[in-house]
Amino acid sequence: MMKIAVIPGDGIGKEVMNASMLILEKLDLPFEYVWLEAGDEAEKKYGKALPDETLEEIKRCKALLFGAAGESAADVIVKLRQELETYANLRPVKSFKGVKTIHNNVDMIIVRENTECLYKGLEFGVSEGVTVGIRVISREASERIIRFAFELAKRDKRRKVTALHKANVMKKTCGLFRDVFREIAKEYEKYGIESEEYYVDAGCMYMVMKPNIFDVIVTTNMFGDIISDLAAGLVGGLGLMPSANIGEEYGIFEPVHGAAFDIAGKGIANPTAMILSSAMMLRYLGFLDEAKRIEKAVEKVIAEGKTTPDLGGKLKTIDMTKEILKNVQ
Ligand code: NAI
Ligand code: MG
Repeated sequence: MMKIAVIPGDGIGKEVMNASMLILEKLDLPFEYVWLEAGDEAEKKYGKALPDETLEEIKRCKALLFGAAGESAADVIVKLRQELETYANLRPVKSFKGVKTIHNNVDMIIVRENTECLYKGLEFGVSEGVTVGIRVISREASERIIRFAFELAKRDKRRKVTALHKANVMKKTCGLFRDVFREIAKEYEKYGIESEEYYVDAGCMYMVMKPNIFDVIVTTNMFGDIISDLAAGLVGGLGLMPSANIGEEYGIFEPVHGAAFDIAGKGIANPTAMILSSAMMLRYLGFLDEAKRIEKAVEKVIAEGKTTPDLGGKLKTIDMTKEILKNVQ
């Protein structure tokens, strides 16, 4: 049996995790699920958003399924990504049949650096009314993530890798990221993989106006966070966006969205992002067939309009989940 850590967390994290587990339990997988606590509620209960026992137990598992944390997100999920060295945050962005948005054929994947940049947490007050935050960009981490992006392009037969940065202004930090990108891009020319760069602000405009110029996108941590939600808006919202955090030895699988307190407790959260994140975990662990069965079922249910209100449907989380369950062959 493979041990899988499960952290539902706060807000809709719990609701979408329950949905996702119903789907996983239908498949005959050799998993033992280890339910753990972390997040705002854990902080109230134990005085620590990521209790030591939770972290130790996670490390004894093969992978982690994570719902969402609330205000303690930085102390939980950002910490976990650094602690478990899951340096690559993968966020596939794909149009779904049956979802009305401004574009209907988006297909790109965001590869976000996950361990440094402004997310290092190096923030200080320097004097009354003045604060600073330190942006760390290293050659080592840049090389690792950029290489990951090109390897992914090579493996999945994608045509192009685009770097988003702001090297005209952040000359040192983004400048280093850009230089490393250019070096590595050269190595992959022989595989026919193109490379391209945009300043992140212009890149955002193009993402909205002509998303098809993007294929694989590689960027630093903070920009990656922002463009992920922008990209979510292109395909129908955060309820649809799964993600994987991948390292040499560990994987964390979680929706791109957070605890969504505005809809928590109402039973209307879209479970798709979490369910597709669990499918990403199955792919990572080598259960390709099971992953495909989940993905197909989700696509079918969405195409038929059997959805939660965020996509214009009338179903509750549990009813949409039951529809998906029915279709998991
Ligand atoms: P959010 O991602 O939770 O929600 C943004 C908007 O998208 C909300 O209007 C929400 O209703 C909607 N939405 C998100 N997921 C949805 C779903 N599955 N179905 C339908 N609608 C959905 O971001 P927000 O509101 O900025 O943050 C709420 C809390 O979550 C905060 O405490 C924040 O710190 C935390 N957070 C945690 C994250 C994590 O644990 N990875 C990531 C982002 C935010
Ligand atoms: Mg985010």
